[in-house]
Amino acid sequence: MSHSIRIHQTGGADALKWEKVDPGKPAKGQVLLKQTAVGLNFIDVYQRTGLYPVGELPQTLGVEAAGIVAAVGPEVTSVSEGDRVAYAMALGAYSEFRIIDAERLIQLPEQIDDQTAAAMMLRGMTARYLLKSSYPVRPGDTILVMAAAGGVGSILCQWAKLLGAEVIGCVGSSDKAIIAKANGCDHVIDYRNEDIAKRVREITYGEGVAVSYDSVGQATLEASLDSLRATGSLISYGSASGAITNLNIGVLAQKGSLYVQRPTLATYTRNRLLLETCAGDLIDMVKSGQVRIHIGQHYALKDTAQAHRDLEARKTVGSTVLIP
Ligand SMILES: NC(=O)c1ccc[n+]([C@@H]2O[C@H](COP(=O)([O-])OP(=O)(O)OC[C@H]3O[C@@H](n4cnc5c(N)ncnc54)[C@H](OP(=O)(O)O)[C@@H]3O)[C@@H](O)[C@H]2O)c1
Repeated sequence: MSHSIRIHQTGGADALKWEKVDPGKPAKGQVLLKQTAVGLNFIDVYQRTGLYPVGELPQTLGVEAAGIVAAVGPEVTSVSEGDRVAYAMALGAYSEFRIIDAERLIQLPEQIDDQTAAAMMLRGMTARYLLKSSYPVRPGDTILVMAAAGGVGSILCQWAKLLGAEVIGCVGSSDKAIIAKANGCDHVIDYRNEDIAKRVREITYGEGVAVSYDSVGQATLEASLDSLRATGSLISYGSASGAITNLNIGVLAQKGSLYVQRPTLATYTRNRLLLETCAGDLIDMVKSGQVRIHIGQHYALKDTAQAHRDLEARKTVGSTVLIP
């Protein structure tokens, strides 16, 4: 019998329960996965609270992990028993064993260990589509990155530097400022104590940034818009401080004919070709050492509730890995 972290109702971290669950047998196109490392993502918090609905309850949460194929169902040809694999955006990851569609899995090269894979798949593919598709960064662009010492932020800043950007990172403490610098940020703003837009105008000699990659949401909406150059882009890709409910579209004209996007990784990995392209690019960056994956903290999978509390309290840095 396997254990999973499930919710029977949406709510606070106490809603997460460690329970015995039979994973079942793989059907056509599916595999049974023995999971060795599970990624913790802010999306898991939105799903736990009900901001992102997860369908019928009880439900095992978590959307990202790495592990070993323990058994394959009929008509599975892409992976075999014993293969080391990882995935993102597949609900049910907080488990020792799980069933998953084989088409969601990416084979891991020997240079990438299981914990690194669980720490990077979702956050790394997100950084990749943000930088290459949502607003394709060009050499010389000055960009603004919220939560620059967090999971997505750490990868995004390093990758943006490789693309030739000047990076302004925003963080919530002086310890995180050191991490943001190590991620390659040219300038760091402590947004608990400093005025973001004012500092951005100083740094850019009044011009503003080409893009703000904003995962904080409601609390930084205005600062992001006020930091953009004329025709700049706000890529609002998360809601760590709460969902945006008050964007008046007319403001975009007043502040310089601005663009706003609200993208999701699901769109950018919606078929096998897109998933393989995105994951392949990320794996190459990590394998070659160009992008480092910083695992800031580990928890036992059964202690996932505490990991959620720490993530929500802004106590985590880099990626967080849960060990089954
Ligand atoms: N749209 C997509 O495709 C997509 C995919 C993946 C992730 N995301 C989003 O990307 C963001 C980052 O995800 P992650 O898993 O890597 O998390 P994370 O960045 O490691 O953690 C969230 C960080 O947000 C900052 N924050 C600012 N205000 C906050 C508040 N009121 N409450 C909590 N945190 C606050 C904190 O950093 P400071 O203390 O430095 O402010 C905190 O550490 C999340 O918003 C997530 O939803 C979006």
